[in-house]
Amino acid sequence: MQKEIEAIKKGFEEDIKKVKDKEELKIAYLGRKGKLTLLLRSLGGLKIEEKKKYGPELNKLRKEIEDKLKKIKSLGGEERRGKDLTRPGKRVGYGSLHPLTITEEKILEIFKSMNFSVVLGPEVESEFYNFDALNIPAHHPAREMWDTFWLKGEEKDKERFLMRTHTSPVQVRFMEQNEPPFQIVVPGRVFRYEATDASHETNFYQVEGLMVGKEISLANLKFVIEEFLNKFFGKKLEFRFRPSYFPFVEPGIEVDIKMPGGKKWLEVMGAGMVHPEVLKVGGINPEEWQGFAFGMGVERLAMLKHNIPDIRLFYSGDLRFIKQF
Ligand code: FA5
Repeated sequence: MQKEIEAIKKGFEEDIKKVKDKEELKIAYLGRKGKLTLLLRSLGGLKIEEKKKYGPELNKLRKEIEDKLKKIKSLGGEERRGKDLTRPGKRVGYGSLHPLTITEEKILEIFKSMNFSVVLGPEVESEFYNFDALNIPAHHPAREMWDTFWLKGEEKDKERFLMRTHTSPVQVRFMEQNEPPFQIVVPGRVFRYEATDASHETNFYQVEGLMVGKEISLANLKFVIEEFLNKFFGKKLEFRFRPSYFPFVEPGIEVDIKMPGGKKWLEVMGAGMVHPEVLKVGGINPEEWQGFAFGMGVERLAMLKHNIPDIRLFYSGDLRFIKQF
């Protein structure tokens, strides 16, 4: 009897090491015809002194085996039985934030540290806010710069709606509702009807900025943008402010940067002093208040920061790309 007990103990220790299916192991030892069960049953044929001696020992062993079985994780015998799709899933890893989300959060964090508030606006926008309110009347050639997706409507509808082509309409929406002075940033998704290539998508993200106050000048715009870009890239950059044209600013500029030791100038955003007509539409007296605005592409900034060669990678859903961030 003692020998058999030892054999079961040893056998179980071996089996538990290479266990594939916990249920199978349990049946092999504790099942109706299990090794330990049979041994326990054979106690019946023993003399009374032997029963007294081996009975408690066998029960102790059963308890040990039960405890050990409880401790091992349930490993299904799926390999042999085939996949059971109704079993609860196993977690294979954690998800992470998309590189564009990380970039947007970083941009907003820097502006918040400069006392800007974060404001949102609608992705489906009216023709009025996307164009007219921004000094871009129908048939203005600038409308072509922002060719877009229009929503189907009825002939009788007073207003037409579209997928916004930039975050600038939120400037006017905010001005209408708030008294200056204020400084806001507006992150969001924008849409354009255009051919995609390595640096253009039909769907991308922008962050708009707007600051309105007394005696706000281009000097303030320059300081805020330089401060932001130096912080974002964590480097002392070189800057170039080039004259440019956007109907809703006067003067309008384009901001280029050069990395330390770099050769190429890279265009990162459009900006300018808010046009007096736009302030008026927003209910703000341009004789009394001035402001600056800017609009940057989030993908563009992420691409420059992380040396990403193609904008389409952001939208490919390719884990090999996503997991690098
Ligand atoms: C505008 O959208 C203006 N609303 C910016 C502005 C705001 C000017 C306030 C003045 C005052 P633009 O079309 O240049 O401007 O776009 C701004 C940025 O969005 C670009 O510098 C670029 O980084 C990004 N961008 C533009 N088109 C695309 C595209 N198809 N795919 C990805 N990013 C784009």
